Amino acid sequence: MSSDTGEYADRTLEAVAEAGSSPTEDVDVSALPLPPYPPNLGSPKLHVLRQMRDPRRFMFESMATRDVVRTHFVGMGDIYNLAHPEHSKRILLTERDRFSKTDDFSIAFGEGLLTVEGEEWRQQRDVLQPLFVRESVRGYGDGMVEQIRRRSDRWADGQRIDLQREMTHMTLDVLFATVLGRELELDGDEAIREASERLHDWFLPTSWFLPNWVPTPARRRFTEAKRTLEREATRLLEEKTAEGAPTDPSEATDLLSLLVGLRQAGVTDSGMLTDERLRDQMVTMIFAGHDTTTTTLSFAFYLLAHHPEVRERFHAEVDTLDGPPTMADVDDLEVTERVVTETLRLFPPVHTLPRLADEDVAFDGYRVPAGGRISIPIFRIQRDPRFFEAPDEFRPERWTPEFRQSLHNFAYAPFGGGPRICIGREFALLEAKLALATVGRQYELYHLGDDDDEPTSFEMTTRMRAGEQFLVTER
Ligand code: HEM
Repeated sequence: MSSDTGEYADRTLEAVAEAGSSPTEDVDVSALPLPPYPPNLGSPKLHVLRQMRDPRRFMFESMATRDVVRTHFVGMGDIYNLAHPEHSKRILLTERDRFSKTDDFSIAFGEGLLTVEGEEWRQQRDVLQPLFVRESVRGYGDGMVEQIRRRSDRWADGQRIDLQREMTHMTLDVLFATVLGRELELDGDEAIREASERLHDWFLPTSWFLPNWVPTPARRRFTEAKRTLEREATRLLEEKTAEGAPTDPSEATDLLSLLVGLRQAGVTDSGMLTDERLRDQMVTMIFAGHDTTTTTLSFAFYLLAHHPEVRERFHAEVDTLDGPPTMADVDDLEVTERVVTETLRLFPPVHTLPRLADEDVAFDGYRVPAGGRISIPIFRIQRDPRFFEAPDEFRPERWTPEFRQSLHNFAYAPFGGGPRICIGREFALLEAKLALATVGRQYELYHLGDDDDEPTSFEMTTRMRAGEQFLVTER
């Protein structure tokens, strides 16, 4: 797939090689002041309340006039918000060794790819990467379309759907049938579906300022959900192992076969040999791989519903297909691709990237102290008028090759950047294009609500507000 976002991120990866010298080398960082608290937000002690009330507004208000600000969280301490793409580039790429990941995810998901660091991360990434490169992902294409159709074929003309719910089911169907190698029942497997949703409960705002050991109701729901998914992972691993014939790991086409193959082949440096590690990896993929794509699809349909001109161009494009999209068509779906790219700009599923500073670091004349919690507000950066004209407007046509070329590499980073860029990027982009094209050939979706107020819900990830209804009309 020649993807806007894909090419863009490839350039980011290439840039790893040209990591520059640290801008902080020549300054006495310890003498620099800490970033100011935003003056318009009142006492720092109240930041947590403002954040809980409206996290999206808090993000924009706190960084309304500055790129470097400090916000405060009772129970967590200060957060250092760094809102210029140049900051992201330093943190994720050129000075990445001075920063590490926070432990929130490892407490929740153990030692999967999303959380591990150092040599273990390198080993896991090397082992898993082949499943996610463009060629392998394209191998999933027909399976993706089959899953998408299985669900959308059941919609009827005039039916109202809770779009986010439908998309959640669809992306889980796709993820399980492809990467996890096990088809979910269309109307069943409720326990797995429910548990996959509940993984978010670890991160609910009501728990933010409580220590991790406090068993809030949300955290209990999370723990139960995680156990359910771990049991399922164990069952799947046992079934695959019992199938007998060892899988050559280099030929594995799904995560399960790969993991079991590695174990059977006794590959000792995979970083994933214990049952616990294998389970962590599967739960990580379920968490990272379905909710993000759900958000992308939900907002893409929402945006199309509210922009008739773009919708017409989109329908005209998918109407040129002879049937449901195939891998032969996918590179020609330019309008569809730009819709996906622009949706990921306006509604990046990962609205904030967290990091920790391992040492004192200077940003624009301010000090972020060692141990400081850093927040990169992707959602705010991708709506920054310095980089995007009319930043709040949905304009897929802005993504011309010239525009992409001129854009700061980190002004658009829905998949992160640097070596830890999302491993599922190709997968997600392909799935989004195929889902839009498959559904768009058959139906038009009308949002039964207005667009004055974008229906976002800032949770651990960006999501569509629960319960938004869409009307399905047969084309
Ligand atoms: C539109 C969909 C998606 C978005 C926006 C997205 C976004 C991201 C972002 C921003 C990161 C970087 C996190 C950081 O640096 O702290 C990331 C990492 C990751 N994503 Fe995705 N993701 C998507 C889909 C997927 C899918 C489909 C999968 C798996 C099937 C996946 C698996 C992962 C994993 C395992 C990592 C950790 C990679 C590493 O640290 O080496 N993601 N994702």
